[in-house]
Amino acid sequence: MNEPQRKQTAGVSREPPAASPRAAASFVVALLNRYVGVGDLLVDVGCGPGLYRHVTPARFIGIDYTDATYYPDWPRSVDIVAEGSALGLKDSCADLVMSKSAFFQFPDPEGALAEFHRVLKPGGRILLFDYNRRTQKRLERVEVARRPCWTQWRLRVLVARAGFQQTELLLPTARRVARPLRLPFLVVQELIGSWAIVTGVKAK
Ligand SMILES: C[S@@+](CC[C@H](N)C(=O)[O-])C[C@H]1O[C@@H](n2cnc3c(N)ncnc32)[C@H](O)[C@@H]1O
Repeated sequence: MNEPQRKQTAGVSREPPAASPRAAASFVVALLNRYVGVGDLLVDVGCGPGLYRHVTPARFIGIDYTDATYYPDWPRSVDIVAEGSALGLKDSCADLVMSKSAFFQFPDPEGALAEFHRVLKPGGRILLFDYNRRTQKRLERVEVARRPCWTQWRLRVLVARAGFQQTELLLPTARRVARPLRLPFLVVQELIGSWAIVTGVKAK
């Protein structure tokens, strides 16, 4: 597991603090709401407990390769059990495909990006929230296991190679960041932050 674990006492889960992984992250909610509106179809791949099901006015489909319980007292909330690279959706149906804290686990990242592209409508958007190189390297040392270690810029290249246009790196904040400040903040994010957040658009 790559996100902070909730503390357990004698087998009984304590209520998580407000910023625990049980809560939808506010920057994720803000970015989703920047890009989807009423009636849009939002697909969350690797949705786990489905934290982002009710945070936008969009219709939501949660996809995960398992619907098994996430933690002992915390179910997954999955509409379709499917691999990230074979979503079981028809072509050009989604307005936004997101994946948070899951994409680095996919065994075939390029195949997943091609699949995201296939199911998006022309003009639809991908929004990937992944861990950056520094974070993955730290987790590799803890877990003694190899992980994909891409910088934000490398992940953006993968997204562009899958055919997405207008690719952009985003910062983990609900605030709009003025253009001249974005590069310095992205560099700081790469050095001391955790996230690699990439968006792009399927050509019309
Ligand atoms: C760390 S959890 C993140 C859950 C959720 N996105 C969130 O941020 O709360 C990663 C999720 O990705 C799912 N996952 C891992 N590999 C997958 C794959 N190849 N296809 C689909 N889902 C996958 C796992 O089952 C798990 O539910």
